[in-house]
Amino acid sequence: MVTRLSQLKVDFPFMVAPMVGLSHVAFRELIRAYTPEAITPLLFTEMLSSRRLPSERLERAENLFVAENERGLVPQILGNEERFIAPSIEKLMALNPWGIDINMGCPKKKTLSHNWGVLLLGDKDYAADVVRVTKKYCNVPVSVKLRAGLGDSIDLDYLHAFTDALEAAGADWMTIHCRASRQKHRGQADWEILQTLSQRRNIPIVANGDIQTAQDALRLITEFGVDGAMIARAATARPWILWQIAHQLGEGAPARGRDLVNPPTTPEEEGREYFQAVLRFAFMLEKYFGKSPESLQRLKFYIGVSSPWLPYGHHFWKTIYSSREMDEAVDRIASYATQYPQPLRSRVSH
Ligand SMILES: Cc1cc2nc3c(=O)[nH]c(=O)nc-3n(C[C@H](O)[C@H](O)[C@H](O)COP(=O)(O)O)c2cc1C
Repeated sequence: MVTRLSQLKVDFPFMVAPMVGLSHVAFRELIRAYTPEAITPLLFTEMLSSRRLPSERLERAENLFVAENERGLVPQILGNEERFIAPSIEKLMALNPWGIDINMGCPKKKTLSHNWGVLLLGDKDYAADVVRVTKKYCNVPVSVKLRAGLGDSIDLDYLHAFTDALEAAGADWMTIHCRASRQKHRGQADWEILQTLSQRRNIPIVANGDIQTAQDALRLITEFGVDGAMIARAATARPWILWQIAHQLGEGAPARGRDLVNPPTTPEEEGREYFQAVLRFAFMLEKYFGKSPESLQRLKFYIGVSSPWLPYGHHFWKTIYSSREMDEAVDRIASYATQYPQPLRSRVSH
């Protein structure tokens, strides 16, 4: 599909978002396992602190683990000072990233104490400097993921002025999370703001927020005029969503490593595959992180985020949550899947 992202050699403009606790190497591998071989989707790391990155050891830091020959990787950094950003990027270049993303959307208290994340959104000149500095040390595309608004609401004039400054500073593309910062991840995302913003920009604009189905992702490009769609939580419930999109675009190839010829489509097919995906995810967690307490923690977190798409998701989550070891959790998931088969819901309200 041709959009302005094609200028950056991105021909499949659908991607999976950075998510702390989720978008690590095992999750990215799960997504790729459900994506046709010919497609290399852009997949983000969890947000990475530029204060910690310089002293981190690649073979030890679990949030920096990558798969062998991983392509399409976009590490996301939290940063504001050149003395931290420069060595952070140097470190990240060893991961052979496709691009580097700057976080300007995180509203968490800890993030705010360093004056980065969504706080950058409060000062466009300061934010533009962060882009300029990052570009100075990168020989790959630099993007920014930002909130559409600060506080309770979206001020379109401000958003336009802010993105003017980022574009002038050399940002190669941007993702807009269509919620204001105080909304956190709740409530409806306002996709209506995207049309004028996208027209105003000379660089690709990617939509994020409340994209739950393949149709949502495609509509954003065809009806709201953006250049790409970034899926976050819904990709945990339907990690085959990129495959569904590819399928709708006529790219009918089966996903790599799957015995299914077509992506799951009906609620029943999706519900069945959901449990298979959770088991597969557990396997990938063990592959990268062992049968460790951290693997179990990550598995529980994944189920916590993805299970609302099941009609009895809370029941499923509670059943697994009390597991003390990976093996126990895996046994419970497998028997739950046969005891309580459920369709997957198309959309949930956050
Ligand atoms: C558990 C969790 C962790 C997140 N971590 C990050 C992050 O590290 N960096 C970031 O830019 N956004 C992060 N986000 C925000 C998502 O990338 C996305 O913008 C948000 O969830 C809205 O998309 P959705 O409605 O499709 O979920 C996180 C969201 C969740 C739910």
